[in-house]
Amino acid sequence: MSSRASAEQTIHRLRDEINHHNYLYYVMDAPEIPDSEYDRLLRELQSLETQHPELISADSPTQRVGAVPLDAFQQVKHEVPMLSLNNAMDAQEVEDFDRRIRDKLAADKIVYTAEPKLDGLAISLLYENGILVRGATRGDGSTGEDVSQNVRTIETIPLKLVGKNYPSRLEVRGEVIMSKSGFNRLNDQQRKNDDKTFANPRNAAAGSLRQLDSRITAGRPLEFYCYGVGKVSDSLADTHHGILQKLRQWGFRLNPEVRQVKGLQGCLDYYQQMMQKRDGLDYDIDGVVYKVDSLAEQDIMGFVSRAPRWAVAHKFPAQEEMTTLEGIEVQVGRTGKITPVAKLKPVFVGGVTVTNATLHNQDEIDRKDVRIGDTVIVRRAGDVIPEVVGPVLSKRTTKLNKFNILKTINNKCPVCGSHAVRLEGESDIRCTGGLFCEAQRKEAIKHFASRRAMDVDGLGDKLVEQLVDEGLIHDVADLYSLNKQQLAALDRMADKSAQNLLDALNNSKSTSLERFIFALGIRNVGETTARTLAYHFGDLDTLMKAKQEDLIEVADVGPVVAESITRFFTESHNRDVIKKLRKAGIHWPVIEVAAAETQKFSGKTFVITGTLSGMSRDEAKQRLLAQGAKVAGSVSKKTDYVVVGADPGSKADKAEALGVAMLDEAQFLKLLS
Ligand code: IVH
Repeated sequence: MSSRASAEQTIHRLRDEINHHNYLYYVMDAPEIPDSEYDRLLRELQSLETQHPELISADSPTQRVGAVPLDAFQQVKHEVPMLSLNNAMDAQEVEDFDRRIRDKLAADKIVYTAEPKLDGLAISLLYENGILVRGATRGDGSTGEDVSQNVRTIETIPLKLVGKNYPSRLEVRGEVIMSKSGFNRLNDQQRKNDDKTFANPRNAAAGSLRQLDSRITAGRPLEFYCYGVGKVSDSLADTHHGILQKLRQWGFRLNPEVRQVKGLQGCLDYYQQMMQKRDGLDYDIDGVVYKVDSLAEQDIMGFVSRAPRWAVAHKFPAQEEMTTLEGIEVQVGRTGKITPVAKLKPVFVGGVTVTNATLHNQDEIDRKDVRIGDTVIVRRAGDVIPEVVGPVLSKRTTKLNKFNILKTINNKCPVCGSHAVRLEGESDIRCTGGLFCEAQRKEAIKHFASRRAMDVDGLGDKLVEQLVDEGLIHDVADLYSLNKQQLAALDRMADKSAQNLLDALNNSKSTSLERFIFALGIRNVGETTARTLAYHFGDLDTLMKAKQEDLIEVADVGPVVAESITRFFTESHNRDVIKKLRKAGIHWPVIEVAAAETQKFSGKTFVITGTLSGMSRDEAKQRLLAQGAKVAGSVSKKTDYVVVGADPGSKADKAEALGVAMLDEAQFLKLLS
């Protein structure tokens, strides 16, 4: 055999093999080989075809990459018109549909095929002798556009039919869609490239399929599901369901939710099931379709104008509607986040009347360019909070002003009047009056009382909410002026527990500076930063007066944390609450901080392991911190010293292995003194 003949043989074998695996993967959902093996087969075919370009044919699985751009699409006349479906907007209209059919057929119960109504665009695919020869859009139903180059790039559309016994001429119809995940990926990519984004998966699918340059289509995550046939040279089956099974055998992907159902009740049950499933599917559906299953019965029913009498689309409530953006309200969340909320002219969407929708933050308002007075698209999918998708720019006929949150609220929290700021690098605007703001009250008090902060035993989240709701406390300092009578009057609060709580509050007054700083709930200041700050500054007043440049000196405090801290302490509302707390008797031991120049260990990292005989681990830690050291929990290459007490753990072994300097207690004391 010549080398050309043997190449030809291999090429055919590879194509069959690849088509077979495509079928297992896309249609049967049961791949037999890993993706890597599939890629290997495809590459082998590609390389053979490169060596023998004369053997390349249009149905080769390598031909999905797109071709030279067209100037315009050719028109395609559909031999059998592509019809549309009548809609049923509620169960009553489905009942009417079912009754008309039963009356006409003089039948008791009708068997239907029930299918999801996919939200993409209809396409016709023509196969001659098993080879895809043309793909066309629906157009106006009688004439569409030839998008053959583009449909070839869609992996779930077979270029060559699988198996045998297919009619010599077969026109398959179905929906081209884009999955929700594919749509999100595409939009992310478009944003990254500063290209325009798509409003929804349907638009993205339509835009992608109608590209004159099919190489662009090839890069878009399009998919195909078949749902029927057009012109066919032989009859295929007696039922619609039977046709779908045939199409599946020949390599088309059938939607996994397709069912045969019986009678009106079968249809309505299916509708409910799909309604439940809707949000969990990775593609949009806007309803379900019921089709009389028997082809003979379909024939009897016939058509009226441009839609069959034997099928109906039972629509879901729309998830997107248009309405007017009447205003933007600025709300403060329980953690101080300030969010813009769209005030809408009431609109029925996703099954409920919507008057509010989130606009997320300033960046989103800018990106979407929504302005008060705009006609906007509102989306409510499932139980998700309604959102404003964007303005309908063609409806913006008068000049509207851009919306700026900080300008609107005059840089002040709309709830408490504290400064509102947007920190460098963050997208949210926040109220800085964390200790004072009514919107943040409950969260601030819960955090303050929590175990790692002031550790007020017995003051849990529920009780905090109760105290605030009853108006007994307004800020964290009010905790310390509660009395037994007030507490005992609360629901489910016995005398004894009231006394216990008062004792716990009293005990919490004696604390440490690091706990107190952490308890204030300053944004970006966690336990570790609070401790570092405490040992760096030694007392609260110095910390409160510290400037941005002083704070940046502190280990691990960057400009954002520094700004958070200065913003917090410049807010006079917070300072007032701190004053109240100190008046209530909160105190902590003085920390002796060595002056920066005399700090022995600044920049050095210590780890303590085992038990020291002369002092507690905490004490050792505090003395190190006061000398500017960092005290870490685990040993690494960055550790400078490991202090090893009695019965050390694995940290000593690790230090030894890494060659980190180790100090016994005597050496440690000497170093400290
Ligand atoms: S059958 C003669 N089945 O809905 C019936 N259409 O309003 C022709 N569609 O243009 C259509 N899912 O784009 C049918 N399972 C489904 C469908 C479906 C979505 C679309 C299709 C068609 C439109 C009709």
